[in-house]
Amino acid sequence: MKVTIVGAGAVGASCAEYIAIKNFASEVVLVDIKENFAEGKAMDLMQTASLNNFDTKISGATNDYAKTANSDIAVITSGIPRKPGMTREELIGINAGIVKTVSENLIRYSPNVILIIVSNPMDTMTYLTHKVTGISKNRIIGMGGALDSARFKYRLSEALDCPASDISAMVIGGHSDKGMVPLVSLATRSSVNVSHFLSNERLDRVKQDTKVGGATLTSMLGTSAWYAPGAAVSALVQAIACDQKKMFPCSVLLDGEYGLSDLTIGVPVILGRHGVEKIVEIPLNQEEKTQLVNSAEAVKKTNSILLEMNLME
Ligand code: 2OP
Repeated sequence: MKVTIVGAGAVGASCAEYIAIKNFASEVVLVDIKENFAEGKAMDLMQTASLNNFDTKISGATNDYAKTANSDIAVITSGIPRKPGMTREELIGINAGIVKTVSENLIRYSPNVILIIVSNPMDTMTYLTHKVTGISKNRIIGMGGALDSARFKYRLSEALDCPASDISAMVIGGHSDKGMVPLVSLATRSSVNVSHFLSNERLDRVKQDTKVGGATLTSMLGTSAWYAPGAAVSALVQAIACDQKKMFPCSVLLDGEYGLSDLTIGVPVILGRHGVEKIVEIPLNQEEKTQLVNSAEAVKKTNSILLEMNLME
């Protein structure tokens, strides 16, 4: 199993480390445009192999896609991260061109690769990847909901004063401060709905803290987060690599599901060796349906900027 990660920054390198420690991939290739940066990150990570007991071979390449040839899975984290006060959507001007070039290069050397998109604004970058590569839609997966759901579980575990492992919860919708839809109606602590334990006011605070989870960390760190994003990506990579048939909310191309079409947005999907094995339509209450539709409208508005940038027909 060969995995390429484009972008050896904090998110990409964290993802490489988590994949290596889980020891399911034979090879991870880190790619970056900065001279020797990916090679250095790879060497540093390989020097943990005897300490963290993994056999995965991690290597680095400076903008050399020949070294990514025949990758099974490729992760696109390249582009600039947010600064405090920025929205993810404000990154489109720089990141769209990067994602277009990177995805074209990846497909050129690995025509059967499954792509996972992380670069922001992620839903729009995922949609752009469909447009520029034209590969089958099950092979393009946007990572946002897995991260947002982890933050949702964190906030619920904080409110409930219980381990996050006790929580089952999901966030769907756009990966944006206003577009996320934390599904409180389906969230449980050991199979008991969380509304049994928490007031509506407390749950509203959990939902809001979840939505701005990324921005909160950006204001604390001065840049985008990397541990949880890297861990979320590694979970998707593992589900595909190990054909786990696990369900995650991922940004995928919709063609009528949830009454939505011609956009990529976070909905529950089953991940396995073919990438998106199935899009799962779950029951939503009226409030959640309305929030998802509103979120889709916002994603489509951001997508329309791609037309103005002449990045797609
Ligand atoms: C986040 O929410 C980077 O969009 C990512 O942290």
